Amino acid sequence: MNTPERYLITAALPYANGLKHIGHLAGAYLPADIYVRYLKANKKDVVFICGSDEHGTAIPIQAKKEGLSPKQLIDKYHTEIYDNFYDLGIRFDLYYRTSDALHHETAQEFFTNLYNQGFLEEKSSQEYYDPEAKAFLADRYIKGTCPNCQFPNAFGDQCEKCGKSLSPDELINPVSTISGATPIKKNTTHWYLPLQKYEDFLRQWILEDNGSTWRTNVLGQCKSWLDGGLQARAITRDLDWGIQVPLPNAEGKVLYVWFDAPIGYISATKQWAKNNHKDWKPYWYDSKTQLVHFIGKDNIVFHCLIFPVMLKLHGNILPFNVPANEFLNLEGDKMSTSRGWSLEMDYFIKNWVKNKPENYIMADVLRYYLTAIAPETKDSEFTWKGFQDANNNELVNNLGNFVNRTWVLMHKYCRGRVPKIVPEHFNDLDKDLIEKIKHTKTKISGLIEKFKFRESLFEIMELSRQGNIYLQKNQPWILAQNITPENKAQEQIDRCIFLCLQLTANLSIFINPFLPIVAEKLCKHMKVLPKMLDWEHAGSIELLSPNYPLPQPSLIFKKIDNEDIQLELEKLRKNMETNQPAPIQTESATQASNPNTPTSNPSNFDELAPLITIDDFSKIDLRVGKIIAASKVPKADKLLELKVDLGFETRTIVSGIAEHFKAEELIGQVVTVVANLAPRKMRGIESNGMILLASDATGKLHFVHTQDNTINGCKIK
Ligand code: 2FM
Ligand code: ZN
Repeated sequence: MNTPERYLITAALPYANGLKHIGHLAGAYLPADIYVRYLKANKKDVVFICGSDEHGTAIPIQAKKEGLSPKQLIDKYHTEIYDNFYDLGIRFDLYYRTSDALHHETAQEFFTNLYNQGFLEEKSSQEYYDPEAKAFLADRYIKGTCPNCQFPNAFGDQCEKCGKSLSPDELINPVSTISGATPIKKNTTHWYLPLQKYEDFLRQWILEDNGSTWRTNVLGQCKSWLDGGLQARAITRDLDWGIQVPLPNAEGKVLYVWFDAPIGYISATKQWAKNNHKDWKPYWYDSKTQLVHFIGKDNIVFHCLIFPVMLKLHGNILPFNVPANEFLNLEGDKMSTSRGWSLEMDYFIKNWVKNKPENYIMADVLRYYLTAIAPETKDSEFTWKGFQDANNNELVNNLGNFVNRTWVLMHKYCRGRVPKIVPEHFNDLDKDLIEKIKHTKTKISGLIEKFKFRESLFEIMELSRQGNIYLQKNQPWILAQNITPENKAQEQIDRCIFLCLQLTANLSIFINPFLPIVAEKLCKHMKVLPKMLDWEHAGSIELLSPNYPLPQPSLIFKKIDNEDIQLELEKLRKNMETNQPAPIQTESATQASNPNTPTSNPSNFDELAPLITIDDFSKIDLRVGKIIAASKVPKADKLLELKVDLGFETRTIVSGIAEHFKAEELIGQVVTVVANLAPRKMRGIESNGMILLASDATGKLHFVHTQDNTINGCKIK
């Protein structure tokens, strides 16, 4: 593409069904924000779109779990997720939502347009139906015995034990995971996008036209989908939550969430244009628009195969690039909110950024570390130790150190002013540094434009390291010991400090897309307007005028202590222990492999634990108890401190049920207690036992208790 006239940058619309973790941030939102900030620093016409994905089965399921209506749920998470992004410096031009009327209209028009042109196929098929729950079942929500390995809890799309791909028809004794009923086959009609007809187009466009510019992981995944053979995809579902199919006789049918969500990018652009008195059409119809989708790898098939076919049929432009990231793991394991092995943005903000006013810079420290370990080509890993090292060794010891030394030396040897110098007197060392500044500008621009954010950050840090080396070679503190008019030592000090100051200004420009708070802080200290951060100024050594006075320096970064890191590791471990997983399936990668399954519902039957003997069981001492007091554990969202009367004694038990029950409701509740569980400290409170609860299909918890007038302390055998 020749130089684009405008840029439309999208970041995957997150499901508004829960808080998002730093893996999401590193996967799509942070790189998108860096790219957008870079484009804006280059004064490009750019629109950055994101928003909530508010449809799909995950929404009503989670709403039920939280005791909210779907609308209450999406309202809550829409705001919370947006606020979290904002607090970490992500600046969308519009954070939209797919429940908006304009989006419903846009998605319906899109469907109608494809329908009227004859691109959609209507097909009836026999699908699995839960006669008790009165709902069609996606493959994933049917369980049964694997025909291959006899594993009794295989899913309708795959056996998790032997890995074999399955269809629900192959399962022995299939059951619905919603109600436990045996599913029946029922006829239903849906509309399909015949992807297989566009294989040649996709092969040419992805593998040929974009084969040398897209990331290899993206190309690889696309190729494997193409080689696996494309099939027609159902784009409607039997559901009561979503956008109505705009056809007569389609009552009870909605657009599939993965059909409507990407159209959300278009609706959002329309809304942005409306708000800003602009025309939205060129952003979606003019080939001089550079459209880029930032996503995580589980979204590749939707953004690289399905949505482009939809766009082509609808007459829109196609994406210029889809720089999908791989996954970010946490401390050696996959991140999972339900297992408690996760670092949510919200948690980081509350505990590291907003806990003290001076910690606002920590948002940039997170941005720094997540970019330095960005999973651009393969999965990568967040470790708290790595986070500490990135801060202490790179930001404090390299960048912060260089800037601070420069400012301190300027005050010490140059009267707190930008020194006056004679450019003709620059020596080889000076010229080499000037060259490095200019070269870095070209290099960073090239890397960012190729979506290589990790490498560009390394280049910036390398330039800062060169600044430290330059200072070290000049040693102004030694020169200052013997200043005479003859040896021109002061002149050399001035040249050195002058260049270090200009380098600091350049570093502010380079770092701005990555660490905007740091850049702003540097500007404030240098008493320059943020306008200086415009990319066109980078590479210059005339950013700060001679004689310009600068204030006394203050440190930009501060070291992170070992204790803080230990505490986080401890919390992570405890969180995992206290979390009772109740997995909620979202419609992404797992469903991507089941293109034709029209409906989806949750699974809540945990797999059976390995067999134990009666001797194993008899080791557990279960007793009847009654809760006689309950209170929230301070600063722990999930924990309640309970006093339980066991007849022979009263126990303190800390239970992770605060999100399910109000403390005051629990007084008098009869419970079953594991009475011989070893004591364990949680939040400084010793817990002596565990209370048994059952989790139903919606994730709601129920106390397990005896029914008759049993006496507290009775043994359960
Ligand atoms: O995976 C997800 O979180 C999806 N909600 C992403 C949707 S991106 C786009 F299509 F809107
Ligand atoms: Zn199997």
